[in-house]
Amino acid sequence: MSADPSPPLRAVPDPPEPGDGAVDDAVVGDAAVDLDDLDVKAKQAAYHDWEARSYDEKFSISYDERCIVYARDRFRKVVPEGAGFGSVLEVGAGTGFFLINLALGGCLDGAELAATDISQGMLDVCARNGAEHGLTVTTRQGDAESLPYDDDTFDLVIGHAFIHHLPVPGAALREMHRVLRPGGTLVIAGEPTELGDRVSWAVKRNTYRAFRAVTAVPGLTQLRKPSLRERGASTTEQALAELEHEVDLHTFRPKDVEHLARLVGLREVEVVTEELTANWFGWAVRTIEGSVRDGVLGPRWAYAAYHGYLRLSRVDEALSRVVPRPLFYNLILRARKPYRR
Ligand SMILES: C[S@@+](CC[C@H](N)C(=O)[O-])C[C@H]1O[C@@H](n2cnc3c(N)ncnc32)[C@H](O)[C@@H]1O
Repeated sequence: MSADPSPPLRAVPDPPEPGDGAVDDAVVGDAAVDLDDLDVKAKQAAYHDWEARSYDEKFSISYDERCIVYARDRFRKVVPEGAGFGSVLEVGAGTGFFLINLALGGCLDGAELAATDISQGMLDVCARNGAEHGLTVTTRQGDAESLPYDDDTFDLVIGHAFIHHLPVPGAALREMHRVLRPGGTLVIAGEPTELGDRVSWAVKRNTYRAFRAVTAVPGLTQLRKPSLRERGASTTEQALAELEHEVDLHTFRPKDVEHLARLVGLREVEVVTEELTANWFGWAVRTIEGSVRDGVLGPRWAYAAYHGYLRLSRVDEALSRVVPRPLFYNLILRARKPYRR
């Protein structure tokens, strides 16, 4: 088990190469198209379809104690033990990290599980991951800003690390509210805050520069992971990988998210933020893991990374009493759809 402790959010890009960026024709559906011609949603689908086959490995996603505890801890910050749900939908579900780990962690006992995403490739992996762990996840491809479900269908609607990909996040919140039953609960976790994201980029950039400086020393250059081109990837694949720089659209201020949630009709709105030093540590770890040649970092690295993250998470819990909430990296929104009068 590899132990990247941080949530599956955004990847560290492959190192830029001189002359890269010439976007080639790619096959999307059955037609060869220029990726530059795709609109923002078609780019999301194309990129995530391509990413689906390596997504779990890239973000060290597993369906075992490590990720179950991570998902359950996020959920339990805003939903008390004992809350029961007959039907659950995850929007922007990807490969099922949040939904499946919550189910395995006993948070969704007895619930029917549904997942939707703009990427069919992601949903195929999600259904397979569920089946491999004894769960039936019913999937339906669709756009979060226009969900393919009837009004008042689900007791719980969840999401993790996806609304920052949407052109109009408020439209998705309105849709999630629509498909919730009156009295139902919404939980969205793993969204980046505006300030937290800025700091995390500084961490990523500086870690990457330090890694490149150290591995510029003769004898150490072979520690670097070969680029996609050096690994023999096609120009189409390189072009799809480049879309990574176009799919992250937003960061959020906690107060704005609260406002948006109320605006679409949700009530009992609560936004909590989390991860400060643990997040910096997690991104530094992930940057190195994304830059180093496969097989160089062994289980001791994984162990140290995971336990370092856990220790710093405890530090962050204490800091949350004194540090302003917009500085923390991850945002969790919880809200209820009110009963009709
Ligand atoms: C960073 S991944 C997160 C996946 C998963 N929730 C997780 O935490 O691992 C973002 C997901 O949002 C999906 N997505 C992007 N735009 C979308 C849209 N308009 N409607 C539905 N899903 C979308 C992507 O296909 C991708 O699976």
